[in-house]
Amino acid sequence: MNAARDALLEKLAAHREATERRSMRDLFAADPERFSRFSAQFDDILFDYSKTHVTAETIDLLVDLARACDVEGRRDRMFSGEKINTTENRAVLHTALRARPGARIMVDGADVMPDVLTERTKAFDFAEAIRSGALTGATGETFTDIVNIGIGGSDLGPAMAAIALGPYTQAGLAGHFVSNVDGAHITDVLRPLDPKRTLVLVASKTFTTMETMANAHAARGWLVDALGEDAVGKHFAAISTNAEAVEAFGMDESRMFRFWDWVGGRYSLWSVVGLSVTILIGAENFQAFLDGAREIDEHFRTAPLKENIPTLMGLIGVWHRNVCGYDTHAVLPYDQRLARFPAYLQQLDMESNGKSVTLDGSTVDLKTGPIVWGEPGTNGQHAFYQLLHQGTNVVPADILMAAIPHEQVADQHAMLLANALAQGEAFMRGRTTEEAEAQLRDAGKDAGQAKALAPHKTFPGNRPTCAIAYRTLDPRTLGRLIALYEHRVFTMGAIWGINSFDQWGVELGKELANRLIPVVKGEKDTSGLDASTRGLVHHIEKLRRAH
Ligand code: F6P
Repeated sequence: MNAARDALLEKLAAHREATERRSMRDLFAADPERFSRFSAQFDDILFDYSKTHVTAETIDLLVDLARACDVEGRRDRMFSGEKINTTENRAVLHTALRARPGARIMVDGADVMPDVLTERTKAFDFAEAIRSGALTGATGETFTDIVNIGIGGSDLGPAMAAIALGPYTQAGLAGHFVSNVDGAHITDVLRPLDPKRTLVLVASKTFTTMETMANAHAARGWLVDALGEDAVGKHFAAISTNAEAVEAFGMDESRMFRFWDWVGGRYSLWSVVGLSVTILIGAENFQAFLDGAREIDEHFRTAPLKENIPTLMGLIGVWHRNVCGYDTHAVLPYDQRLARFPAYLQQLDMESNGKSVTLDGSTVDLKTGPIVWGEPGTNGQHAFYQLLHQGTNVVPADILMAAIPHEQVADQHAMLLANALAQGEAFMRGRTTEEAEAQLRDAGKDAGQAKALAPHKTFPGNRPTCAIAYRTLDPRTLGRLIALYEHRVFTMGAIWGINSFDQWGVELGKELANRLIPVVKGEKDTSGLDASTRGLVHHIEKLRRAH
């Protein structure tokens, strides 16, 4: 119960009611300074939130809300290594993974930084040795293919970053990512690869995850069939917090890269979980990626709340979720290499803030994390934007764009940017029925036809978007972008009073799947199952028997 927070939310609701009829067009017309008033910049990154309904009063109230929820205090406790993940009794220190050498960050009375730096150096050295060919496979051939086996946080981050930083990948090296327990995934990934030139990284915080262990054993079998048991040591490495399990898998200490329980899976890309990416892009580029994130950490810690981009992103997220009542949040990168960024953010946001109880275990009395989704533009325009423009749901969206592409393909980048800008404008302005009718008349329709068609060609507008524009998608920028979203998620979770760092909601499905494996394999009968699950099992059995 936080009376100050509730009072501010009531004020925000009243403020919304009083202002919601005001169109964004009017807001821009009434204030020539609206763009500069409602945008913030960090180095080359511009965050423009002027195409939303917020006014100066909205921001004042939202900043008061952040203060009432002690977002800054919780932020400082996170950075200092306090165990703010109370349900797992853990510190939350992904920020330590990108901290400068020389920083001191204490957990349980010990500075974590020496271990962080040792492990980082070990990973960097290993990556450089693979890249230079100093470390080879069992037959003496250099590695050309890096297969990362992991799932969730042990997959989405490296898989997303490998695509995003494709232009920085060393020629002759390719990254591959296997996550799904569906055997099709590992089969399709391994089929074209040459075992002699393949390095397999098994990434799992716990080293117990069903999917990852199954895929790791499959990859081991594939390698042993081709090169024999002795080759395993040279072709495998493990990334984990669980040294015993790694050892039990038969992996040598020198091939084990560690991280710690204070790194959440979905926050682990900065740790040795990023090893596949480090091999692909090199240690120097990976360091730039870490530096970019650290710069945003500094900004988040020190910038005044009204100029603090991740805080503003979070506050606008709360405005849209709790005051405007929007259920989903779209991430629309006009940057093809961020194709997996929405999927990455899905885990970051939905696993962090998809919660129904507060830190003290009581039922949360506000809507928490929205459904996060998205696809790169312009592809999405030809798929789901119809609903975004004219559907009955309002979907706030982030539109991301780079000023400078890596490739100049004729004038395609200008086309891409024009589309990104046009969409933001269209969502904001819309098109009135009168405008639609006039346009139809201008195009030669008669009055009757124009009147009949106009409602179909009307766009309500007033659909909020935030734009994030940056110079180019390089390692530093990617680090910055991810850190911005991490702290956005943090800010929203702090306002809701939930634990953004546990994920108990994934447990039940895992337990039931383990119980069902022997049933599906026919080793146990279906008694005790609900009628639907039983019916499905019987149907599958029947199909298999007939096969
Ligand atoms: O099931 C969810 C989850 O626990 C994620 O939080 C995590 O990123 C993923 O599984 C993988 O876990 P691990 O790295 O331990 O294999």
